[in-house]
Amino acid sequence: MGKNPIVPYILIFALGIGLIFFMSLYGLDQQKEIANEGDEGKTEDVATEFDPEVAIGKCIGCHGGDLTGGGGPALVGTTLSKDEIKNIILNGSGAMPGGIIKEDAELDAMADYILSLK
Ligand code: HEC
Repeated sequence: MGKNPIVPYILIFALGIGLIFFMSLYGLDQQKEIANEGDEGKTEDVATEFDPEVAIGKCIGCHGGDLTGGGGPALVGTTLSKDEIKNIILNGSGAMPGGIIKEDAELDAMADYILSLK
């Protein structure tokens, strides 16, 4: 009996199947990694620091682009205390709606920012 000429083809075939199998497993692994990376990105987004200079965009419509007054009074040079500012942002005052910013830490940052404007 000579060598069966089919054997090399079967070997290559088996190797090919093995390779496809391996690569699909590898791909699944990578998919998980990519999915995880996405999750990490999300938690980072959530944890992104509150930036008063960005959030002030919600205020400039009424208080003017540089917060020196428009429909609402000037915020620059306010004589209000930090707590009074936080309270007005949270609860509103007169024509100003409350609740534009609700998180205490963000109210804090916003009040500090307003008081830092001169
Ligand atoms: C819809 C318009 C409007 C928006 C939006 C608005 N305000 Fe006002 N704001 C007013 C008006 C009107 C007053 C004056 C209220 C009064 O006479 O009691 C006021 C008053 C204030 C005061 C008190 C100022 C003072 O000297 O009495 C502060 C502080 C303030 N706003 C901060 C903010 C901040 C911070 C934002 C954004 C998060 C904001 N406002 C968004 C209309 C607005």
